[in-house]
Amino acid sequence: MRLMLICLSLLALSACEGRQSVLNPAGRDAQEVLSLIWVMFGGAVLLWLTLGAIFVYVTRMEPREMPRRWGEMLIVGGGVIFPVILLGALLTYSLPMMKPQRDAKPGLKVHITAEQWWWRVDYELPDGSRVTSANELRLPTGRRTGLVLNAHKVIHAFWVPALGGKVDMIPGRETYLSFLPEEPGIYRGQCAEFCGASHALMAFETVVMTPEDFAEWLTAEAEAATAPASGEAVRGAQVFAREGCGACHSVRGTRAVGQVGPDLTHVGSRKSIGAGILNGSEEDFARFIAHTESLKPEVAMPSYDHIAPEDLRALVAYLEGLT
Ligand code: CUA
Repeated sequence: MRLMLICLSLLALSACEGRQSVLNPAGRDAQEVLSLIWVMFGGAVLLWLTLGAIFVYVTRMEPREMPRRWGEMLIVGGGVIFPVILLGALLTYSLPMMKPQRDAKPGLKVHITAEQWWWRVDYELPDGSRVTSANELRLPTGRRTGLVLNAHKVIHAFWVPALGGKVDMIPGRETYLSFLPEEPGIYRGQCAEFCGASHALMAFETVVMTPEDFAEWLTAEAEAATAPASGEAVRGAQVFAREGCGACHSVRGTRAVGQVGPDLTHVGSRKSIGAGILNGSEEDFARFIAHTESLKPEVAMPSYDHIAPEDLRALVAYLEGLT
């Protein structure tokens, strides 16, 4: 009884959030994955019920020794013919599903590299140039997007359950996944391969937009950073330069051209910071800068807890203004 309760509550917990669930598909690929899940589940239930029925029959209903010919029929029928037909049918159903994913020509290409523990995101424009962003993926509806996946140091896995399958990201070897999103919304993605101390803190938001909104957003994202608007933000830009943030981070249009950490050109417009772990409010920005190492264990960025509170506030004003 207790075991059953535990199992049932685990089942309930596993699907409590819709925006990161295979049970709430928002794209064609995820819809196919879900259909596959139900068909496979149905096949498994059918097999289990059949075996259960045979077991009940031979132990309860007809426990006496059965004629040899009957026994042989049961072994050949239930042990060979039935599984071959069932598994063959499931295989025939599932194999063709792999084809459209591989053959489809993507309308948009995005290069994603997994870092310790964040995501480098590059949108490839039709002329071959790239727009660099980080820790957030934006996709248009109704258009297949090809994701070219890489990893820098160790193996990670790319997974946005509401949009499609899961693919490993392997250092030195490019892998590929494509999505056809259909429902505008915000869906959570999560690294799905243990990759070190902060593996669980390696997430991101996927913002699915209408094609018009997406085109507008991409044009804005390709622009250089906006100049600081307020006096406080101007001072924040000075703190940014003084603390050497530009050695690791890029802010396009400024002297910050570091490549080690996430690009911050439009960090103020992102839905989350720290690779999906904080919401991006003023307090979150300040917390992340001052307590990086405790919020994200073993990350390359040190905690900037020596910055004076008013300087930290100015720095946050500057970063939040980078929209
Ligand atoms: Cu990256 Cu787990």
